[in-house]
Amino acid sequence: MPRARTVFVCQQCGYQSPRWMGRCPECDSWDSLVETVIGEEERRGTTEVSLVGAAQPQPITEISTDGYERIEVPLGEFSRVLGGGIVPGSVVLIGGDPGIGKSTLLLQVSALVAQRGELVLYVSAEESAQQVKLRARRLGPMPATLYVLSETNLDRILQHIERLSPALVVVDSIQSVYLEALASAAGSVSQVREGAAVLTRLAKERHIPIFLVGHVTKAGAIAGPRVLEHIVDTVLYLEGDRFHQYRLLRSVKNRFGSTFEVGVFEMGAAGMQEVENPSLAFLAERSPSTPGSTVVVTMEGTRPILVEVQALTATTSLALPRRTANGIEMGRLLMLTAVLSKRVGLNLSNQDIYVNVVGGMRIHEPAADLAVATAIASVYRNAPIDPDMVLVGEIGLSGELRSVGQLERRLAEAAKLGFKRSLYPRTSRRPQVPEGFELIGVRSLSEALEAALQR
Ligand code: TYD
Ligand code: MG
Repeated sequence: MPRARTVFVCQQCGYQSPRWMGRCPECDSWDSLVETVIGEEERRGTTEVSLVGAAQPQPITEISTDGYERIEVPLGEFSRVLGGGIVPGSVVLIGGDPGIGKSTLLLQVSALVAQRGELVLYVSAEESAQQVKLRARRLGPMPATLYVLSETNLDRILQHIERLSPALVVVDSIQSVYLEALASAAGSVSQVREGAAVLTRLAKERHIPIFLVGHVTKAGAIAGPRVLEHIVDTVLYLEGDRFHQYRLLRSVKNRFGSTFEVGVFEMGAAGMQEVENPSLAFLAERSPSTPGSTVVVTMEGTRPILVEVQALTATTSLALPRRTANGIEMGRLLMLTAVLSKRVGLNLSNQDIYVNVVGGMRIHEPAADLAVATAIASVYRNAPIDPDMVLVGEIGLSGELRSVGQLERRLAEAAKLGFKRSLYPRTSRRPQVPEGFELIGVRSLSEALEAALQR
């Protein structure tokens, strides 16, 4: 075996240094040196390796997949995001802000798999076994085949996995375990990356699926889940607002399923519950005839979800009026405010504007433009929006309404939930809609407001 040693490699230019430095002397970039394990150079390429016991090439037609069936988890929203269950030997990273519910969700999944009589190892590197047990109490009865290990030393964790040979392993979290071979502290880029790499190797060799928890760190992507995205098979992010009950599990990479799939959960007194009809849940507390409230159909992966968008305007006492965006991008709000001022003629320069997407949802697509702009105009003019109308559409800088992707699927979902009409950009093809659903063609935001606002 070549003796491994650690050096610090600049991520920008590849410069190697025996010790850590704040600035790379080669390319002058800051904070770019990362501790890396390398084998001894002189042995590279010349070593005779034995093929005994090693993997052999074989015809693809003769590769057996027995024992490689996915493990079904009786938690539909979770299974769906994974692409239909857990793939043996796969490594799944679950990222998210601290406190969002990663440990809770994975403990539930562990219990569900263990309930099938399979051995599951839940490694808690952040909490004691007792703390895990206390959390488990809230979640209901736990099967005896669920093992809890409170350990931060990854070398020991690996040995336990080898010995127990569990059907599923959870490592919570990858940032709090460490390899002794590395000098740097747990949570550093090198520890996180090397740790994930050895776990991945073990997962592939022993066909054990491993879930890794990764906190999204405040300091941006450094040492967070981002460093691992290319190592693991699947990357899921658990999103949501800590102060709201809804959580979205979003897949951003999946070697064994489609990406951009989304599962919706509700954090309750007994852990995460599936939300099978998210639109109904998100609209539950809506007061339809209040000015400033409207409904948009957003696509979360392949799935249309209806959410309420609210706006409030108030005459400001500040020289620079306040703009607050919750659930949409600030840049989008500023752009829509400018379009409303310039193209529609609303005088918003002395108005504070607040926009909120209800339930802690976040909308990333411009399809929400029409809903946001209409909500602002509605509350500013104190005119309620037609409660039976959904608003979907992108708005251009000239104030024109633009079509969005998958409009027909969105409108079908809206019709299913009892909405009766929608606007569409008259310049594009008229979408196919269910019987009885009314379509109003408009060209611009002004025309849209004309059609949507009630007096
Ligand atoms: P946790 O799973 O510890 O988050 P993470 O691992 O992502 O840091 O979740 C912590 C929050 O969830 C905490 O605020 C308490 C809350 N919670 C519930 O609301 N219900 C429950 O049944 C459990 C176990 C936790
Ligand atoms: Mg946790």
